[in-house]
Amino acid sequence: MKNYAEQNEIMYHVGLSREMLQGAEYALLPGDPGRVEMLAKAIGPAQFLAAHREYTSWLADVEGKKVLVCSTGMGGPSVAIGLEELARLGIKNFIRVGTTGSIQEHVNLGDVIINNAAVRLDGTSAHYAPVNFPAVADLKLTNALAYTAEELEIPHHVGISVSSDTFWPGQERYDSFTGYVCNALRGTLKEWQQLGALNYEMETATLFVVAQAFGLHAASICGVVAKRTESESVAPPDVYALASERFCNVVSHALHVLLREE
Ligand code: URA
Repeated sequence: MKNYAEQNEIMYHVGLSREMLQGAEYALLPGDPGRVEMLAKAIGPAQFLAAHREYTSWLADVEGKKVLVCSTGMGGPSVAIGLEELARLGIKNFIRVGTTGSIQEHVNLGDVIINNAAVRLDGTSAHYAPVNFPAVADLKLTNALAYTAEELEIPHHVGISVSSDTFWPGQERYDSFTGYVCNALRGTLKEWQQLGALNYEMETATLFVVAQAFGLHAASICGVVAKRTESESVAPPDVYALASERFCNVVSHALHVLLREE
Protein backbone atom coordinates (compact mmCIF):
# COMPACT_ATOMS: atom_id res chain seq x y z
CA MET A 1 0.00 0.00 0.00
CA LYS A 2 1.35 3.42 -0.97
CA ASN A 3 1.25 5.80 1.97
CA TYR A 4 0.57 9.22 0.40
CA ALA A 5 0.44 12.32 2.62
CA GLU A 6 -2.65 14.45 3.11
CA GLN A 7 -2.69 17.64 0.97
CA ASN A 8 -1.58 19.96 3.78
CA GLU A 9 0.46 17.52 5.89
CA ILE A 10 3.99 18.92 6.34
CA MET A 11 6.70 16.28 6.15
CA TYR A 12 8.91 16.28 9.25
CA HIS A 13 12.35 16.44 7.56
CA VAL A 14 11.85 18.20 4.22
CA GLY A 15 9.31 20.71 5.56
CA LEU A 16 7.06 20.33 2.49
CA SER A 17 3.42 19.33 1.85
CA ARG A 18 1.64 17.97 -1.24
CA GLU A 19 -0.12 21.32 -1.55
CA MET A 20 3.23 23.13 -1.78
CA LEU A 21 4.40 20.85 -4.63
CA GLN A 22 1.38 21.66 -6.83
CA GLY A 23 1.34 18.24 -8.50
CA ALA A 24 5.09 18.00 -9.21
CA GLU A 25 6.13 14.46 -10.18
CA TYR A 26 9.77 15.21 -11.02
CA ALA A 27 12.45 16.18 -8.50
CA LEU A 28 16.02 17.27 -9.09
CA LEU A 29 18.22 16.34 -6.15
CA PRO A 30 21.50 18.19 -5.71
CA GLY A 31 23.44 17.31 -2.55
CA ASP A 32 24.33 20.90 -1.71
CA PRO A 33 21.56 23.23 -0.45
CA GLY A 34 23.58 26.10 -1.94
CA ARG A 35 23.08 24.70 -5.44
CA VAL A 36 19.27 24.53 -5.35
CA GLU A 37 18.35 28.10 -6.32
CA MET A 38 20.78 28.17 -9.26
CA LEU A 39 19.53 24.82 -10.55
CA ALA A 40 15.86 25.75 -10.17
CA LYS A 41 16.34 29.03 -12.04
CA ALA A 42 18.30 27.22 -14.78
CA ILE A 43 15.31 25.01 -15.62
CA GLY A 44 12.55 27.64 -15.56
CA PRO A 45 10.87 30.42 -13.56
CA ALA A 46 11.20 29.31 -9.93
CA GLN A 47 10.08 30.12 -6.41
CA PHE A 48 11.53 29.33 -2.98
CA LEU A 49 9.56 26.77 -0.94
CA ALA A 50 11.38 25.82 2.25
CA ALA A 51 14.74 25.35 3.98
CA HIS A 52 14.74 22.66 6.64
CA ARG A 53 17.90 20.86 7.85
CA GLU A 54 19.84 19.83 4.68
CA TYR A 55 16.68 20.02 2.56
CA THR A 56 16.35 23.33 0.72
CA SER A 57 13.53 23.37 -1.84
CA TRP A 58 12.51 25.48 -4.82
CA LEU A 59 9.70 24.84 -7.28
CA ALA A 60 10.21 25.56 -10.99
CA ASP A 61 7.88 25.70 -14.01
CA VAL A 62 8.92 23.50 -16.93
CA GLU A 63 6.66 23.02 -19.95
CA GLY A 64 3.62 24.05 -17.88
CA LYS A 65 4.41 21.52 -15.14
CA LYS A 66 5.95 21.90 -11.71
CA VAL A 67 9.40 20.47 -10.98
CA LEU A 68 10.79 20.30 -7.45
CA VAL A 69 14.46 21.03 -6.81
CA CYS A 70 15.38 19.74 -3.33
CA SER A 71 18.84 19.24 -1.82
CA THR A 72 19.56 15.95 -0.05
CA GLY A 73 22.72 16.75 1.89
CA MET A 74 25.59 14.27 1.72
CA GLY A 75 25.40 10.49 1.87
CA GLY A 76 22.85 7.70 1.86
CA PRO A 77 20.86 8.29 5.06
CA SER A 78 19.70 11.78 4.12
CA VAL A 79 18.97 10.68 0.53
CA ALA A 80 16.72 7.88 1.82
CA ILE A 81 14.91 10.18 4.25
CA GLY A 82 14.34 12.69 1.45
CA LEU A 83 13.02 9.99 -0.88
CA GLU A 84 10.67 8.58 1.77
CA GLU A 85 9.04 11.96 2.25
CA LEU A 86 9.09 13.19 -1.36
CA ALA A 87 7.53 9.89 -2.52
CA ARG A 88 4.70 10.44 -0.03
CA LEU A 89 4.21 13.89 -1.59
CA GLY A 90 3.74 12.38 -5.06
CA ILE A 91 7.23 12.63 -6.62
CA LYS A 92 7.74 9.73 -9.05
CA ASN A 93 10.96 10.66 -10.87
CA PHE A 94 14.17 11.53 -9.02
CA ILE A 95 17.25 12.90 -10.76
CA ARG A 96 20.38 13.32 -8.69
CA VAL A 97 22.47 16.26 -9.87
CA GLY A 98 25.79 16.15 -8.08
CA THR A 99 29.56 16.22 -8.12
CA THR A 100 31.98 13.34 -8.31
CA GLY A 101 35.59 12.18 -8.54
CA SER A 102 36.57 10.31 -11.71
CA ILE A 103 38.75 7.20 -11.39
CA GLN A 104 39.49 6.60 -15.09
CA GLU A 105 42.26 8.34 -17.05
CA HIS A 106 39.94 9.24 -19.95
CA VAL A 107 37.35 10.97 -17.70
CA ASN A 108 38.45 14.57 -17.24
CA LEU A 109 37.77 17.38 -14.78
CA GLY A 110 34.65 19.26 -15.86
CA ASP A 111 33.23 16.26 -17.78
CA VAL A 112 29.76 14.97 -17.00
CA ILE A 113 29.07 11.40 -15.82
CA ILE A 114 25.65 9.79 -16.18
CA ASN A 115 25.52 6.69 -13.99
CA ASN A 116 23.49 3.71 -15.17
CA ALA A 117 24.33 1.64 -12.08
CA ALA A 118 26.24 1.90 -8.83
CA VAL A 119 28.38 -0.24 -6.56
CA ARG A 120 26.61 -0.38 -3.20
CA LEU A 121 29.45 0.75 -0.96
CA ASP A 122 26.86 2.47 1.24
CA GLY A 123 25.06 1.18 4.32
CA THR A 124 21.62 2.71 3.84
CA SER A 125 20.53 0.75 0.76
CA ALA A 126 20.88 -2.54 2.70
CA HIS A 127 17.98 -1.37 4.88
CA TYR A 128 15.78 -1.42 1.75
CA ALA A 129 17.01 -4.45 -0.24
CA PRO A 130 19.52 -7.29 0.28
CA VAL A 131 23.08 -6.43 -0.72
CA ASN A 132 23.01 -8.68 -3.81
CA PHE A 133 20.11 -6.66 -5.24
CA PRO A 134 21.44 -4.35 -7.99
CA ALA A 135 21.51 -0.55 -7.85
CA VAL A 136 20.37 0.38 -11.36
CA ALA A 137 19.06 3.57 -12.95
CA ASP A 138 15.76 4.07 -14.74
CA LEU A 139 16.39 3.56 -18.46
CA LYS A 140 14.08 6.28 -19.79
CA LEU A 141 15.48 9.03 -17.55
CA THR A 142 19.06 7.88 -18.12
CA ASN A 143 18.64 7.75 -21.90
CA ALA A 144 17.10 11.23 -21.89
CA LEU A 145 20.18 12.58 -20.06
CA ALA A 146 22.63 10.69 -22.28
CA TYR A 147 20.95 11.66 -25.58
CA THR A 148 20.78 15.29 -24.47
CA ALA A 149 24.48 15.37 -23.51
CA GLU A 150 25.29 13.85 -26.91
CA GLU A 151 23.12 16.36 -28.77
CA LEU A 152 24.61 19.32 -26.88
CA GLU A 153 28.12 17.94 -27.54
CA ILE A 154 28.95 18.06 -23.84
CA PRO A 155 31.85 15.77 -22.86
CA HIS A 156 30.11 12.95 -21.05
CA HIS A 157 30.43 9.30 -20.03
CA VAL A 158 27.80 6.70 -19.15
CA GLY A 159 28.69 3.95 -16.68
CA ILE A 160 29.01 2.68 -13.14
CA SER A 161 29.58 4.73 -9.99
CA VAL A 162 31.08 3.54 -6.75
CA SER A 163 28.85 5.08 -4.07
CA SER A 164 30.70 5.23 -0.79
CA ASP A 165 29.49 6.27 2.66
CA THR A 166 32.76 8.07 3.25
CA PHE A 167 34.73 10.66 1.29
CA TRP A 168 38.11 9.46 2.63
CA PRO A 169 38.57 5.71 3.41
CA GLY A 170 35.69 4.46 1.22
CA GLN A 171 37.16 6.34 -1.73
CA GLU A 172 40.67 5.22 -0.72
CA ARG A 173 41.98 8.68 0.07
CA TYR A 174 45.07 8.86 2.25
CA ASP A 175 45.09 12.66 2.78
CA SER A 176 42.82 12.22 5.85
CA PHE A 177 43.37 13.14 9.54
CA THR A 178 45.19 9.87 10.30
CA GLY A 179 46.15 8.84 6.78
CA TYR A 180 44.89 5.36 7.65
CA VAL A 181 42.70 3.27 5.34
CA CYS A 182 41.58 -0.06 6.84
CA ASN A 183 42.70 -3.32 5.22
CA ALA A 184 39.33 -4.09 3.66
CA LEU A 185 39.44 -0.86 1.64
CA ARG A 186 43.12 -0.76 0.64
CA GLY A 187 43.54 -1.56 -3.05
CA THR A 188 39.87 -1.02 -3.84
CA LEU A 189 40.46 2.06 -6.05
CA LYS A 190 42.60 -0.06 -8.36
CA GLU A 191 39.99 -2.82 -8.37
CA TRP A 192 37.09 -0.50 -9.32
CA GLN A 193 39.29 0.98 -12.08
CA GLN A 194 40.12 -2.49 -13.38
CA LEU A 195 36.40 -3.36 -13.42
CA GLY A 196 35.65 -0.25 -15.48
CA ALA A 197 33.75 1.82 -12.90
CA LEU A 198 33.92 5.53 -13.76
CA ASN A 199 33.63 7.48 -10.54
CA TYR A 200 33.26 7.85 -6.79
CA GLU A 201 30.44 9.76 -5.12
CA MET A 202 28.23 9.22 -2.08
CA GLU A 203 24.54 9.07 -3.00
CA THR A 204 23.70 7.25 -6.23
CA ALA A 205 23.51 3.64 -4.98
CA THR A 206 21.12 4.58 -2.19
CA LEU A 207 19.01 6.63 -4.60
CA PHE A 208 18.76 3.79 -7.15
CA VAL A 209 17.94 1.03 -4.65
CA VAL A 210 15.40 3.04 -2.64
CA ALA A 211 13.64 4.33 -5.79
CA GLN A 212 13.46 0.77 -7.14
CA ALA A 213 12.18 -0.54 -3.80
CA PHE A 214 9.42 2.10 -4.00
CA GLY A 215 8.54 1.22 -7.63
CA LEU A 216 9.64 4.73 -8.67
CA HIS A 217 12.25 6.05 -11.14
CA ALA A 218 15.74 7.46 -10.59
CA ALA A 219 18.71 8.70 -12.59
CA SER A 220 21.97 10.39 -11.71
CA ILE A 221 24.19 12.96 -13.41
CA CYS A 222 27.37 14.36 -11.88
CA GLY A 223 30.06 16.86 -12.80
CA VAL A 224 33.66 15.72 -12.31
CA VAL A 225 35.43 17.90 -9.71
CA ALA A 226 38.27 15.52 -8.76
CA LYS A 227 40.46 13.35 -10.99
CA ARG A 228 41.76 10.52 -8.86
CA THR A 229 44.25 9.23 -11.42
CA GLU A 230 46.10 12.53 -10.86
CA SER A 231 45.31 13.72 -7.34
CA GLU A 232 43.29 13.11 -4.16
CA SER A 233 42.29 16.79 -4.05
CA VAL A 234 39.14 18.46 -5.29
CA ALA A 235 39.82 20.88 -8.17
CA PRO A 236 39.56 24.70 -7.84
CA PRO A 237 36.20 26.54 -8.20
CA ASP A 238 36.57 27.22 -11.96
CA VAL A 239 36.32 23.46 -12.58
CA TYR A 240 33.16 23.29 -10.50
CA ALA A 241 31.76 26.25 -12.46
CA LEU A 242 32.42 24.50 -15.78
CA ALA A 243 30.97 21.16 -14.58
CA SER A 244 27.95 22.90 -13.13
CA GLU A 245 27.24 24.88 -16.32
CA ARG A 246 27.36 21.58 -18.22
CA PHE A 247 25.15 19.48 -15.94
CA CYS A 248 22.61 22.32 -15.63
CA ASN A 249 22.44 22.52 -19.41
CA VAL A 250 21.94 18.76 -19.84
CA VAL A 251 19.36 18.45 -17.06
CA SER A 252 17.40 21.47 -18.25
CA HIS A 253 17.17 20.30 -21.88
CA ALA A 254 16.42 16.69 -20.91
CA LEU A 255 13.64 17.76 -18.53
CA HIS A 256 11.99 19.90 -21.21
CA VAL A 257 11.99 16.91 -23.57
CA LEU A 258 10.68 14.48 -20.92
CA LEU A 259 7.90 16.80 -19.76
CA ARG A 260 6.87 17.78 -23.29
CA GLU A 261 6.35 14.07 -24.02
CA GLU A 262 4.09 13.51 -20.97
N1 URA B 1 32.36 13.81 -4.36
C1 URA B 1 32.86 12.65 -3.90
O1 URA B 1 32.19 11.90 -3.20
N2 URA B 1 34.15 12.35 -4.22
C2 URA B 1 34.94 13.15 -4.95
O2 URA B 1 36.10 12.84 -5.18
C3 URA B 1 34.38 14.36 -5.44
C4 URA B 1 33.08 14.67 -5.13
